[in-house]
Amino acid sequence: MKLSLQTQNKTTKTAETMTYQDSEYVQLPVPEGIYDLNVGQPSPQLLPMDLLYSADNTHISDPTFLQYGNQQGYLTFRKAVGSFLSAETGDAVSADELLITAGNSGAILLIGTRIAAESKTRPLAIVESPTYQWAVNVLEGCGFDIMTVPVDDEGMVVDEVERLVVEENARPALVLTIPSHQNPTSVTLSTPRRQKLIQLAIDHDFKILADEAYQLLSFPDGRVDSSLATSDTTEQGVVLTIGTFSKIFAPALRLGWVQANPHLIAWLVKHPLLVSGGGLNPIMAGWLEPVITDGSLETWLAGLRKELFDRYVCLRNALQTKLPQIEMVTTPQGGYYIWCRLPAHMDSEALRVLAFDKYKVNFRPGIQCNTSPDYLRLCFAFHTSEEIEQAIDLLASAYDEYANGLA
Ligand SMILES: Cc1ncc(COP(=O)(O)O)c(C=O)c1O
Repeated sequence: MKLSLQTQNKTTKTAETMTYQDSEYVQLPVPEGIYDLNVGQPSPQLLPMDLLYSADNTHISDPTFLQYGNQQGYLTFRKAVGSFLSAETGDAVSADELLITAGNSGAILLIGTRIAAESKTRPLAIVESPTYQWAVNVLEGCGFDIMTVPVDDEGMVVDEVERLVVEENARPALVLTIPSHQNPTSVTLSTPRRQKLIQLAIDHDFKILADEAYQLLSFPDGRVDSSLATSDTTEQGVVLTIGTFSKIFAPALRLGWVQANPHLIAWLVKHPLLVSGGGLNPIMAGWLEPVITDGSLETWLAGLRKELFDRYVCLRNALQTKLPQIEMVTTPQGGYYIWCRLPAHMDSEALRVLAFDKYKVNFRPGIQCNTSPDYLRLCFAFHTSEEIEQAIDLLASAYDEYANGLA
């Protein structure tokens, strides 16, 4: 299937207009004329509206679909998600290892509140720095104290987790990691570190929350990593992998999954939210199921991975030729982002303000990723390749003006 440009009111791309989204429906409006390399969302052209609106509606025509949903997510949908994940990763994922969620933000809240409710003292979470800052905020909202460990080319520095628990006597209830194509660095956790982290969780009695928002978005020639939950062979389970349809299909679905040992799934199913309100987002699950089972999602994803790779190459080349002063810190193998660094004395938030106000280019500064001001994150998912090139031209002008001002 070819990715086709969608044409919708207020969220459109034609030969004359740039990609933008400016309606009352969106969380992050991007007015026309702004190059927004901050927004970590697929562009409107990369939202498969046709697949959704032409989907078979047999399931959702059943009146029982309008009742409170099965707490774990109904079995046929879990089987469909399991088959889809098995096909994408090459690992067998069964329905009893899955619980359907309202996406990864909701899953972090679900798991965080479940752990916090069982903790006799204020729980501690160890998280990566840099990381997806909003997840940290969710955990803080659940009552967690937070400690950070760095990320390098092999992902989370697990030796530092070990140092905290062994030498500093830290007692985490949870370690949060983004194992594949991490946000914001795009690095992937190496196999030895995965094994070591699981062993630490066993030895020191904590759970691992593996946020796999980007796992399935490896570039076309790369392989998709196994989920961390797949490597968890413990009897009761220590890893909760969470996945989402937000980055591979559409954020507004508010739909995702937890993959974990069935003991952990049974523990999570007892969450008061599910006991009171039933399973999460059942209508959307019923709507999406035929898109998964007829193979459309798999085909769509293959096209999306190719398009994201093309956009990545374009951003990388533009940076290399037009802005060599900005260092690309890592080499992405998938995901949505290039993680960059300014010369040490520069402040990416100050550059961003100038770039946005005068040159109409936006990006995410390091301070919004739980790290120092010299870093910045550039997203290649929202704008087309052509627009990305124009954005980097403008960012180069902003950079020159900013650097001259410092000289
Ligand atoms: C690492 C990470 N986790 C979670 C989310 C949010 O996921 P969801 O849309 O499923 O709530 C994002 C979105 O940017 C993300 O980058």
